[in-house]
Amino acid sequence: MQAGLREELLAALRLQIDWGVDEALDAAPLDRFAAPAPPREQAAAPLPIPAVTTPALPAIATPAAIATGRAAEADSLEALRAAIADTDSPLRDTATNLVFADGVADSGLMLVGEAPGADEDRLGRPFVGVSGQLLDRMMASIGLERSKNFYLTNILPWRPPGNRTPTDGEIALFLPFLLRHIALVRPRHILLLGGTPAKSLLRAKDGITRLRGRWHSLPMEQGAIPALPTLHPAYLLRSPAAKREAWADLVLLRRTLDGEAAAG
Ligand code: URA
Repeated sequence: MQAGLREELLAALRLQIDWGVDEALDAAPLDRFAAPAPPREQAAAPLPIPAVTTPALPAIATPAAIATGRAAEADSLEALRAAIADTDSPLRDTATNLVFADGVADSGLMLVGEAPGADEDRLGRPFVGVSGQLLDRMMASIGLERSKNFYLTNILPWRPPGNRTPTDGEIALFLPFLLRHIALVRPRHILLLGGTPAKSLLRAKDGITRLRGRWHSLPMEQGAIPALPTLHPAYLLRSPAAKREAWADLVLLRRTLDGEAAAG
């Protein structure tokens, strides 16, 4: 290489370094003295990528979705009862009778329990066994009778075998029916008997001992309904000392009803 050319190239390199170029960008060295490469053939236009269309998946009708649809269609208590009776459930296969409700639907006060037991299953009415008899006595102690002043239903309309606690799946299946039941009855107040209805309806994580003793708000399409969780009468039969708390809840219920009656 001639000395002049060499000096010129070194000077150009130094200039690059001065400008901050400190690494080669191409992986392969580029021979700038080689004959110019023939023009490359024009790159072919990229092939159009066919649009991938996913066939619409059929909506999966879960049992709870089916229940929601059926519940929404029921425009009377009779229609709701029939819709529940028509809905497939393993509980329906093992139970004897559907336990829908009892008492006075337009009384303004609705009680919600957990699930029918053996006596309720046999007779097809809620709270007719020993815990129901205690419940009637408790309500009578604040001047309320089933035949005049309140209406009763349960989270589950069928007895779980062996009176076991309802599973989350069973509650999810029947909750749309219960919500429709409440919407049709339009109670002014709701008494929630035990942890299962309290947690399911109020979507609460706390247990009944934390939830009880104060009014909560049950959001409904027609407007929120005040709901008072209290202890389940079956629990009171096992733990009589807890009747003190249940009594305090009933006094709160009575005062609220009296306060609203006085306010007109
Ligand atoms: N326990 C309930 O929760 N409901 C009934 O109907 C009877 C017992």
